[in-house]
Amino acid sequence: MALDQKNIQGDIWPRLPKKSEIFLFCEITNSAKFKEKLSGFSKHLTSAHDAQQILSEISRRKTNGELGPDDIIDAMAVNLACSAKGLKKLEKEDQGDDVFRKGMYNDMVVEGLDREAEWHGEFKGRVVTEEAVQDFVIKVLNPTFKNAPDRSVKYMFAQTGVVLQHECEHFGWADVVSQPLIKGLDKPSSEKLAPPPVKPGIMIVGAEADTANHPAWAKDGSFMVFRRSKQLVPESIQWVTETFKPQATNEKGELMMGALSCLSSRLMGRWRDVVSLEQKPHAYDVMNDVATLMKSNDFDFKDNDDLDDTHAIVRRGIPYGPQTQRTETLSGISMHDRGLLFVSYQSNLRHGFRYMQKEWSNKFSHPAGKDKNYGGAQPGLDPIIGQWAEGDEENNYANVPRLDDPRKLEKIKLERIVIAEGGECFFTSSFSGIKDLCK
Ligand code: HEM
Repeated sequence: MALDQKNIQGDIWPRLPKKSEIFLFCEITNSAKFKEKLSGFSKHLTSAHDAQQILSEISRRKTNGELGPDDIIDAMAVNLACSAKGLKKLEKEDQGDDVFRKGMYNDMVVEGLDREAEWHGEFKGRVVTEEAVQDFVIKVLNPTFKNAPDRSVKYMFAQTGVVLQHECEHFGWADVVSQPLIKGLDKPSSEKLAPPPVKPGIMIVGAEADTANHPAWAKDGSFMVFRRSKQLVPESIQWVTETFKPQATNEKGELMMGALSCLSSRLMGRWRDVVSLEQKPHAYDVMNDVATLMKSNDFDFKDNDDLDDTHAIVRRGIPYGPQTQRTETLSGISMHDRGLLFVSYQSNLRHGFRYMQKEWSNKFSHPAGKDKNYGGAQPGLDPIIGQWAEGDEENNYANVPRLDDPRKLEKIKLERIVIAEGGECFFTSSFSGIKDLCK
């Protein structure tokens, strides 16, 4: 059955077009009153249909030459999502997702490799650290938002993101570009090497291929991961330069910036302009297995019906903090707080975000079988978001194909250039689901 675009919140699909975004984290202090308020508030939420209209308008104006590359249109969009704790207050206890019920703190800190001391207090809760305090989050794009506090809700804190120049993330790569197309919603791509389209139930609850046991009211919703990921940019530049200097220095003793850029792109898995290493391999790599180390990519760029799309996610993150200045780069020390407010949607947290972080990025043996090309050497961790336990030097490595001969690997020690500072899992309900929540 076709998906009802008026029932799905717009950030899940197609996306909310944004230049800035504020995430307001709130606590429900009076459930009965909140239900009344939410019922009225839902008319302000942006549906997939509304978001499509904004995107079409942008595209129309661009085609007509009314909108230059740096011009923006005046559009506001709002989405709302509830944590497991918030839904419990609305008497919706079981979403059919154990990771959601557990909450991100338990999953990623208590049972994971996020470090307790690095998580910001507001994500941990006030009294009991096992329980995150925020009950729901409202995402407002391009905010001109004034809201009178109501006794049904207490505003806890906000996180603000702003799109950087050239739509890059802070390390300088174009980001949130490679998104799986969703069958039944997106038109098939004519691009030869676009990621393969995935079945809608991988992102949207109750749609084709969602195999989990979710309650009926959750249909057309999606689980949203919010994760504050600090990026240490000057430190990362220093680390990459020191690590690859021996390979990237010519006979005259000069550092070859092109070589350095190629090796750092192997760490990210993409060239800076987002072209994948599969699409445009380095001259040496054509004869070899692709030299990408990105571990959150487990597809082969060919559409086929047997594709295992179980672990696909759509990403909707936005950077926070100022762009890195030359003085910071030269000093090698971050002087400003910056990073990515990572956001992803999926219908199953265990298969989606959690799998990518814990089973792919944090596992030195993923992708399985890659060691065959390299005499048994394992790929190691994801150099950007891979995590290891404090003091575990044995697992802190990645094997990077050498520049002069990618059949040979260089084992490098990783630096913690992305720090998980907190987050939570939320459920972005459909409009019909919100009606149910308000009963
Ligand atoms: C600060 C943290 C992060 C940074 C700087 C970052 C950066 C990037 C960049 C530059 C790309 C390539 C451009 C694109 O395809 O959009 C990318 C792709 C991707 N990232 Fe991240 N990322 C971060 C965190 C994460 C996390 C936490 C996950 C999931 C656990 C993740 C999953 C993905 C996926 C699935 C892709 C697409 C892979 C593909 O289609 O080839 N990223 N990321």
